[in-house]
Amino acid sequence: MKLSIPIVETIQKRHSVRTYQERMLSTQDREALLDCISRLDNPFGIPVHKYIIEKKLRGDCKKLGTYGVIKGASTFLGVSIPNVKLAPVAAGYEFENRILYATHIGLGTVWLAATFNRDSFSHAMNIPQEELFLAISPVGYPAARRSLTETLMRSTTKSSSRKAWESLFYQQDFITPLTENMAGDYAIPPEMVRLAPSAKNAQPWRVRKDENSYHFYVTYKSGLSEGEELIKRVDLGIALSHFHQTVMEHRLTGNFEFMSQEDVKLPENVHYIIFLRA
Ligand SMILES: Cc1cc2nc3c(=O)[nH]c(=O)nc-3n(C[C@H](O)[C@H](O)[C@H](O)COP(=O)(O)O)c2cc1C
Repeated sequence: MKLSIPIVETIQKRHSVRTYQERMLSTQDREALLDCISRLDNPFGIPVHKYIIEKKLRGDCKKLGTYGVIKGASTFLGVSIPNVKLAPVAAGYEFENRILYATHIGLGTVWLAATFNRDSFSHAMNIPQEELFLAISPVGYPAARRSLTETLMRSTTKSSSRKAWESLFYQQDFITPLTENMAGDYAIPPEMVRLAPSAKNAQPWRVRKDENSYHFYVTYKSGLSEGEELIKRVDLGIALSHFHQTVMEHRLTGNFEFMSQEDVKLPENVHYIIFLRA
């Protein structure tokens, strides 16, 4: 489903928010968010389960903590998935669409896959035991100034910078970079991938253009834990949301198709996920 918001503009506007005004969501914003959540889907046909909870700003819900990372927020979204291979990609896609919608209506968000008390949020959101609980995000009104913790986190992960085109995008093989000129009409979708958020701002996505197909990969070193590998796939799902939604906004064709095997020799630590045929 194409989100009915200006995609490119919203992607350019989005950044992580960890410091919020201490107030609840207005009824209007809450309803708009709920309405959007109920309509979202993903192109992979995988059920992604979404949650929303509200905690009191002060008092009884101390355990719903974020290790001091998030200040002021009272509404939290959550996402869980069945344990199937493409599910983390589907969840990345669908949850990012929610983040973009929230951004569009003026709310701050930040993906949290690590710095939150997983047990207490899982309990409060009633996550079924057989599901993988991937991440949460606060939603609320950004405070005028960032907390010191947030400022430090942004500078540690260099959150405002992104890798250059030539380290992320290739054509045909993994040697020839895809430049903005060569991408032609398709330059905007890769640029929107480049602006995507990723865990620790690692930007693990790689894209290879081969005639009319775009192949999507993630990079990571061997020896990663199962949980960390899962998050790389979530990162790719986020990138796919940016790419696919932008393709639809610009009326460039594109359906997701799966490919079982590839001829191209992959560089070390590069893992194939999916391709999009234009
Ligand atoms: C899957 C995922 C998991 C993340 N987990 C955390 C987290 O646990 N704690 C946190 O403070 N930020 C987390 N982030 C936020 C990233 O650090 C942030 O998106 C990145 O630094 C880029 O900054 P930006 O979102 O402002 O563009 C996560 C982001 C993604 C996409």
